Amino acid sequence: MMLGGRKPLVGLDIGSSAVKAIELTRSGGGYAIAGFAQAPLGADALVDGAIANAGLVSRAVESVFESGRFKARRVAANVSGHGVIVKRVVLPDEVSRAGAPGFDAAPFLPFDVSEVNVDYAVIGPSGGGGPGLDAVLAAARKAQVRNCLDAVTTAGRVPAVLDVGALAMQNAFEVNHDPGPDVTVALLDIGAALTSINIARAGWPLFIRYVSVGGRCWTEILQQELRLEPDEAEGLKAGKQVGVYDVEMAAPLLDSVTDLLISEVQRTFAFFSETFPEEAIASIYLAGGGSRTPGVARKLQAAFGIEARGMDPLRSVQVGSAAAAGVRDSGPALAVALGLAMRGFDA
Ligand SMILES: Nc1ncnc2c1ncn2[C@@H]1O[C@H](COP(=O)(O)OP(=O)(O)OP(=O)(O)O)[C@@H](O)[C@H]1O
Ligand SMILES: [Mg+2]
Repeated sequence: MMLGGRKPLVGLDIGSSAVKAIELTRSGGGYAIAGFAQAPLGADALVDGAIANAGLVSRAVESVFESGRFKARRVAANVSGHGVIVKRVVLPDEVSRAGAPGFDAAPFLPFDVSEVNVDYAVIGPSGGGGPGLDAVLAAARKAQVRNCLDAVTTAGRVPAVLDVGALAMQNAFEVNHDPGPDVTVALLDIGAALTSINIARAGWPLFIRYVSVGGRCWTEILQQELRLEPDEAEGLKAGKQVGVYDVEMAAPLLDSVTDLLISEVQRTFAFFSETFPEEAIASIYLAGGGSRTPGVARKLQAAFGIEARGMDPLRSVQVGSAAAAGVRDSGPALAVALGLAMRGFDA
């Protein structure tokens, strides 16, 4: 949902493991990083993708704005998780393309409309040929929206855009990759606590679901089974030798969690096929820090028989010298922050 006009924005991704902020400028046909900062968050700051400890989060947000020295005061932030719903709907013709206040979203939502903030975007006349307008409806729990806006304002910034994390990833995907108008892709943002699955075509989401499998699950199984400290388990899955263990020895444990993720993705794809029987997913693109877990892309590809590969959120983004090391290090984990920062330049 747009809360204001078009001006430079800092993309602020409040994720379960860290707050990441990016400011972009236009450069040639693409973008350049003008500023980047991140601050880690403890495990209790967010629960299931929603802010649970507002104090911890706003301190992390303040700290990224202190160290990032961003020029823009306006911020594009995100909400994610089970408190967020995005779905394709057919709206009555009376709803104008520009957006009609006061339309009743209740029939489309599985929860009380008084508990959620609702927004929608009209795609065009109903593709089914009948009356009505094809649209994307997004709803987020009010408490989650409020907490997110508070975190931004506490840091002295202006919340200008509030987006859904999975849609911000899609934005970053489209800027960097061009699948063509008729190609349906599944975009997976594998974070620390959550994975978002966004099945999209022609610039619009068809179906979005959040599942509770993320990087922490791989870390935890290594901790439990190999009796490691959290940072040792993080190192091991990222390829470091830890004591007698190397990543090769850890592979069966990592694969057991990957199988869990695959079964969630399988369920999501099955549900998607029931709702959209004519659609076939052509390929899977991965982002999020969890997408770097050894074997994830390979196993997804084998399970679904379609190409699965990392998206490159920096393909059309020049990384100057200032923040280069940090940006390149975080790579796929920055997809959402980049997609948010790009909202400042949306046509
Ligand atoms: N090299 C790596 N190999 C495996 N996992 C990694 C690697 N680097 C980071 N991760 C994992 O990525 C996760 C963080 O990713 P990301 O920053 O995308 O999550 P987040 O946005 O904070 O969380 P969420 O989206 O779930 O709210 C952590 O669980 C971390 O362990
Ligand atoms: Mg995330």
